[in-house]
Amino acid sequence: MWPEAPLTEPPPGKPEEAETPVAVVTGGSRGIGLGIARVLTARGTRVCITGRDQQRLAEAVAELGPGAMGVAGKAHDPAHQAEVVERVLTDWGRLDHLVNNAGGNPVFGPLIDVEPASLAKVFEINVLSAFGFARHAWHAWQREYGGSVVNVSSIAGLGAAPFLGGYGVTKAALINLTEQLALELAPGVRVNAVAPAVVKTRFASALYAADEEAVAAGYPLKRLGVPEDVAGAVAFLTSAEASWITGQTFVLDGGLGLGAGLG
Ligand SMILES: NC(=O)c1ccc[n+]([C@@H]2O[C@H](COP(=O)([O-])OP(=O)(O)OC[C@H]3O[C@@H](n4cnc5c(N)ncnc54)[C@H](OP(=O)(O)O)[C@@H]3O)[C@@H](O)[C@H]2O)c1
Repeated sequence: MWPEAPLTEPPPGKPEEAETPVAVVTGGSRGIGLGIARVLTARGTRVCITGRDQQRLAEAVAELGPGAMGVAGKAHDPAHQAEVVERVLTDWGRLDHLVNNAGGNPVFGPLIDVEPASLAKVFEINVLSAFGFARHAWHAWQREYGGSVVNVSSIAGLGAAPFLGGYGVTKAALINLTEQLALELAPGVRVNAVAPAVVKTRFASALYAADEEAVAAGYPLKRLGVPEDVAGAVAFLTSAEASWITGQTFVLDGGLGLGAGLG
């Protein structure tokens, strides 16, 4: 686990507790987001998680303990983004780290057959939600006090993939968004991304459930990812040890990309 020192001095007049770092993890009620929230709370960061299903969110908050809160809503809804940032600043007084993890893939199949309106929806969920949360966090806190942003992209954003074209286009956009914001928000705010291959969650289960062993055999490390694999990288990217890293996309793929293009 990566320890964390507060990145900034708390604003004048805040109580001692306000020195404890605070993170927002969107889509933190299960899967990769919950894995990230677990690792961050374990290192002492207070974490606000989001998700649409209120009940699932409440269960995750209860599991994470007193250093956690939840705000239900759709990640791409600007009113929800504003509410999350306001709640965090009202209750905890700071917002050091933003992890844009909420995402999905409602379209599956050849990109050429995807309706433009459906692709716009995927952009809304996977790109505009991250952009909106980053804007709110910047204007409300990070512009003045600094911090970091980590966007959860995908290896589908690094190249073409059968049947995942619509998803891949949006995850590629998220990587460029990461670089653009890294340039614009430096030096106070670092912005990075992670690009996982298949991680065992409900979202990805269709990609491996039929024969996990066979899918894992294609990975040099001979297993699929688990949420903790992504959480460890995100914890590092939000830590002081990563203070000279910005605009980067960490590929987390069990070695899947090794040798690509040599065949
Ligand atoms: N699993 C993989 O193999 C893999 C690989 C590469 C990248 N990723 C990326 O990793 C991220 C997390 O995926 P996962 O596999 O952990 O998925 P998951 O198990 O389905 O979890 C998704 C989480 O996000 C929430 N969520 C989904 N859509 C949302 C929305 N529109 N607004 C707010 N919250 C939303 C879900 O809660 P509610 O349903 O209650 O809203 C849940 O907490 C995604 O961005 C995904 O693209 C996953």
